[in-house]
Amino acid sequence: MSPSELFILGARWLHTLAAVAWVGGGLFYLLALRPALQGSSFSENINKRVAQEFRNVVDTAIWVLLVTGAILFLNRVTSDHATVPYGVVLGLKIALAVWMFYLVGFRQRRSAAPSWEESAGPGRPLLRRAKAVFSGTNLILILGVVVLLLSSILGELFEIDLTNG
Ligand code: HEM
Repeated sequence: MSPSELFILGARWLHTLAAVAWVGGGLFYLLALRPALQGSSFSENINKRVAQEFRNVVDTAIWVLLVTGAILFLNRVTSDHATVPYGVVLGLKIALAVWMFYLVGFRQRRSAAPSWEESAGPGRPLLRRAKAVFSGTNLILILGVVVLLLSSILGELFEIDLTNG
């Protein structure tokens, strides 16, 4: 393996690690921690502390994803196997990633992030629920899952063009 190939391997590894830490941590919170804390008297305190600690993880993940994403981007678009569909999916992925970064920055600028129920605001129960699902942390996580899917599609598209010659 040449030094430049090793460099790309390192960037790919860090990129995946950062994505796992961010999206995996978010899924853990949503599917395990939050249900476990529901109804408990100290849930608010723990929620606040977990949010503070996880914010550091997310901030680091964003920087790593940006730097390594730029390296992978340059590596892919300068190869002969980045087709038009590849470019379209990559453009969509970057747009959603930027939206995720923006949502994190936007939440940080607000002093206290609203809870899942608070962020839904007034309205009919079904509408409130839909608003809650697509708000704040949940929306970032939904976008993260979609970005992971697009990343897998990118890998597949690249490989297809590689095997087709
Ligand atoms: C501006 C931000 C980003 C850029 C420019 C970027 C760019 C890229 C590129 C060019 C690839 C290579 C795709 C291929 O195999 O051909 C890639 C792979 C990947 N990206 Fe990103 N990405 C960004 C953000 C994200 C985010 C936010 C996530 C997750 C939440 C993510 C998760 C992944 C994963 C899991 C892979 C697959 C790595 C592998 O195949 O080893 N990326 N990214």
